[in-house]
Amino acid sequence: MFQAEIKPVEYTKNNIHVLQLLDRSLFNNSWSEEQWKHEFDNSFTSIYIMTNKSDNNIGFMTVSTIDQTLEIRKIGILLPYQRQGLASIFMNKVYQLSKENNIQRIILEVNEKNNPAVMFYKKSGFQIFNQRRNYYAPDQNALCMQKYFC
Ligand SMILES: CC(C)(COP(=O)(O)OP(=O)(O)OC[C@H]1O[C@@H](n2cnc3c(N)ncnc32)[C@H](O)[C@@H]1OP(=O)(O)O)[C@@H](O)C(=O)NCCC(=O)NCCS
Repeated sequence: MFQAEIKPVEYTKNNIHVLQLLDRSLFNNSWSEEQWKHEFDNSFTSIYIMTNKSDNNIGFMTVSTIDQTLEIRKIGILLPYQRQGLASIFMNKVYQLSKENNIQRIILEVNEKNNPAVMFYKKSGFQIFNQRRNYYAPDQNALCMQKYFC
């Protein structure tokens, strides 16, 4: 069993740098330093990093909770650590947060062509409720997915 720990991330310049490194290695449209600052400034948002037993940073997640809805804004596991159930550990954290905050609906938006992510969310019980055509770029549609939590 892979040992992983999820830690909440405080706003520091170094932590923004750490998140940017993870973000860049996982996403083409990674956030700038300014966008990460905004993410920390947003009082509805919580940011987490996953570390392995050697304390290496191997993934991150940012979520926001507004009223009774939790939005998964970004979730990512570094390539060498994928398919080992680690994003599912983040998803369990989402369920824990949902329970603590009386959340009824979990939502997210994902690129339709991001097959691993779409498969991951479907496996986690999410359903598509909307398609945003050409949302990221021409021929790059977004899927809006949701899961009711009770
Ligand atoms: C999507 C992502 C977070 C999944 O992380 P992960 O740690 O590999 O996921 P898990 O190991 O917990 O997978 C759980 C289940 O999801 C599905 N799944 C995950 N990756 C998959 C893939 N590449 N292809 C098909 N199904 C996949 C499987 O059903 C898997 O269960 P299984 O391994 O027993 O078959 C990871 O691929 C990633 O970081 N991608 C880059 C960043 C990204 O696109 N994030 C999502 C958009 S915000």
